[in-house]
Amino acid sequence: LKWMDPLKMGIAYFQRFPDERTPVWGNPCSDPRHLEILSSDFNCSQLALPNAVIVGPQKTGSTALYAFLKLHPNVQSNVENNVTYEEPQFFGGKAYLNGLDWYLNQFPFDSGVEGQQVLFEKSATYFDSPDAPRQMNALIDEAKLIIILINPAKRAYSWYQHMIAHKDPIAMKYSFAQVLAATDNDSERKLWKLRQRCIAPGRYAHHLDRWLEYYSPNRLLIVDGEQLKDDPVPVMNDVQQFLGLPLIDYKQLLKFNEHKGFYCSQAEGNKTKCLGKSKGRGYEPMGAELTDSLAKLYLQDNIALHKMITKMGWRTPRWLQEQLVKLS
Ligand code: A3P
Repeated sequence: LKWMDPLKMGIAYFQRFPDERTPVWGNPCSDPRHLEILSSDFNCSQLALPNAVIVGPQKTGSTALYAFLKLHPNVQSNVENNVTYEEPQFFGGKAYLNGLDWYLNQFPFDSGVEGQQVLFEKSATYFDSPDAPRQMNALIDEAKLIIILINPAKRAYSWYQHMIAHKDPIAMKYSFAQVLAATDNDSERKLWKLRQRCIAPGRYAHHLDRWLEYYSPNRLLIVDGEQLKDDPVPVMNDVQQFLGLPLIDYKQLLKFNEHKGFYCSQAEGNKTKCLGKSKGRGYEPMGAELTDSLAKLYLQDNIALHKMITKMGWRTPRWLQEQLVKLS
C-alpha cells in the first residue's frame, strides 16, 4: 500500500477515468453504505423526492399540463428557484453540479403529508438531454414520467417564435425558411445551431429510445399535446389514472377563454386564470410550403415513433396518425 497526497490522487484518478468527473447522485437512503455514514439529523423517512416528472419536450404544452396537474388536491410540485423559475432543470443540466441537497431543497415538504400522493416536477429540458435519463434513473428509478408530443413541425416553429420573442439576433435576422435551409457548413455557425434547436428535439423516437434504456414502457405516459390544447379534460383523466390519483372532475376546473384562445383554470367569479403571455403566443401560421417540407423532413422519425408506440402498447396521438396518412 502506498500513501499519496489526496489532491494528487484525485487528479490522477480523474485523468484515468475522465467520464467520472461528473458525479452521479443516487438516493442515499437506498444505499446501505451511505446509510451508515449519513449524519444523525438526516431523516430518511422525511426525504421528499418526486414520484412523477413531466420531462417535456419544450413547446409542447408542458406548462399547461404542469399548471393543470397542480390543481389536483392530492398533488404537490416543486417550489420555484430564482434561476430557472418553476423548472428545476436538474438532470442533464448545470444545476446537477449543485448537488443532491440543492435538488432536495426544491421540495421542502415532509414526505408522506396526508393526502399528498404525487410529488412532481416539470422540466421540459429533460426530454432531449443525453444525460437526463441516466441521471434521473440513478436517483428516482421508480418515478412515473410524462412526455408530451405534438406534431414536431409545429414544435419547431413554436421554438423559432420563442427565439423571436426573446429577440435572439439570429432568429431576428433570418426567416424560418432560411433557418431550416441552414447547413452544417454555413459560415454563420449560430444559424445552424438555431436550426438544430428547432429540429432536433422533434426527433421523438430517437430521444424516447434513450428513456427506454432506463425506464420500462409502463412508467411512461405519452400525452397528445394537441389534444391537451383543444380538449384537456380527457387528457387530464388519463394523467390522473396513470398517476393513480383519485379522479377529480376537470370540467369544473378548466374553462376555454375566448380571448386567450386556450383553456385556462377556473377562478372565482366565473373568471379564468390563464398562462402568461409567453404561452400561447399569437403569430402568423407557418404556411403550406414549410408545413409540407417539415412533414417530409420528419417522416422517417414519425414512422419510427409510430412503430415504437405500437410496440410499447401506448396510444397513438391523433396528429401522428394524420401525418402518416397524409404522406402514405
Ligand atoms: P405557442 O406559444 O407557440 O403557441 P411549453 O409550455 O411546453 O413551452 O409549451 C408552450 C405551448 O403550449 C404554446 O406554444 C401553446 O401552443 C401550448 N399550449 C397548450 N395548451 C395551452 C394552454 N392551455 N395555454 C397556453 N398555451 C398552451
